[in-house]
Amino acid sequence: MTARTFPTDFLFGTATAAYQIEGAAHEDGRTDSIWDHFSRIPGAVINADNGEVACDHYHRYEDDVKMMADLGLQTYRFSTSWSRVRPDGGDVNHKGLDFYSRLVDQLLENNIKPWLTLYHWDLPQALQEKGGWANRDTAYLFAEYAEDVHAALGDRIENWTTLNEPWCSSFLSYLGGEHAPGHNSIDESLAAGHHLLLAHGLAVKSLRELDPSLKLGITLNLTVPDPLDPTSEGDLDAVRRVDAQFNRFFLDPIFKGEYPQDFIDDLPDNDLLRYVKPGDLEIISSPIDALGVNYYHGELVSVTPATKVMSTVAPSERPKRSPFPAADGVHWHLRDLPLTAMGWEVQPEGLTRLLKRVHDEYTGDAVKLYVTENGAAYDDSVASDGHIHDAERVTFLEQHLDAILDTIEQGVPVYGYFYWSLMDNFEWAWGYDKRFGLVRVDYETQERTLKDSAIGYREIIAARGL
Ligand code: FCB
Repeated sequence: MTARTFPTDFLFGTATAAYQIEGAAHEDGRTDSIWDHFSRIPGAVINADNGEVACDHYHRYEDDVKMMADLGLQTYRFSTSWSRVRPDGGDVNHKGLDFYSRLVDQLLENNIKPWLTLYHWDLPQALQEKGGWANRDTAYLFAEYAEDVHAALGDRIENWTTLNEPWCSSFLSYLGGEHAPGHNSIDESLAAGHHLLLAHGLAVKSLRELDPSLKLGITLNLTVPDPLDPTSEGDLDAVRRVDAQFNRFFLDPIFKGEYPQDFIDDLPDNDLLRYVKPGDLEIISSPIDALGVNYYHGELVSVTPATKVMSTVAPSERPKRSPFPAADGVHWHLRDLPLTAMGWEVQPEGLTRLLKRVHDEYTGDAVKLYVTENGAAYDDSVASDGHIHDAERVTFLEQHLDAILDTIEQGVPVYGYFYWSLMDNFEWAWGYDKRFGLVRVDYETQERTLKDSAIGYREIIAARGL
């Protein structure tokens, strides 16, 4: 018997991203993105892996969509590749757009709502050579690219997400050096952060003008920092700085039209505001319809060194700095909680607190909340019966869905959940080493096998409850 059920309008889905699954990296006119380029730098990606073939989804999308339908998915979050649609950031490539058009048709034929993300980290390399996101022009080019995608797919897609996790494409990429383009510059990261937000706002304005009925939004990776010692002023300040860096740097301009002053004050040597031109914040705070929240783990922070350290750092030979310009001296700790293969603690209750906080402080009921990513990597193995008994992932999934039901019970509407990911794929700097999928991919044969978690998710979707 089902004990707890989801509201009738709650959507169950999964998520992927273009570079992580498509492959066909140089077919039909596509040219290098920053991830193609970055993957060739020795040591940038574990095992020198790359997305050249990935899950070969570009050629297997029809079967992949049938697999989604078999799981009972109501929606599917995917991203379009800027380098496919506008190779080298230049003219429109109709062959590239046609792929997405075929994919969308296939989804609709299978009653799966397409949930499109325009940017999941794969900037055309040619634009990086002109400064990438540190160059303000990139923001305007992004809005043009959004219009091109809309021209091809706007008749069939209602839900549009501008950016996925701009924290990663700014701070982790231009300062932390762990993601493409692999730079180590605070100033570039601040410029990138602002220009990404500007790109979001410009695209929202353009798409809104083209069609006021579209549902527009952005996806952020937000976090719930807890103090190691709640009575320590230093630890509470560490919480404030992490919150500013990960959460408020993005939420405040989008929903309040301003950058957090405490973040600016924490950076006496780096002037964020020199990148902000008059009118930018009005553009960035253009009204949106949906906020996507990506949540993977909790965080325990302090100003004292950690004994057990949370691992977020991919193996790499490149020089590294803390990807947290305003959070120098903050230490990350582990609680006594289960860990995933990423070394991330499993803390579902944090998701409830996060959604409630975002609703109460930012979105209210005017902007719909969706969990656009949540999932776990484990060292799955194929058992002698041919199955993948990923019991930990089953538990992870159930616990986080349960946390969403708790949120809804507390009066905060949540409208959907996208498990990350539909299938194992190219996990950025970790290559193919980390498996997040509900579906196992054998990279030698491209065979897909439903894990126990996929079967469990299918049952949850069918019952619409836990
Ligand atoms: C998120 C990314 C996604 C995937 C998961 C594990 O930060 O958006 O592409 O890598 O982490």
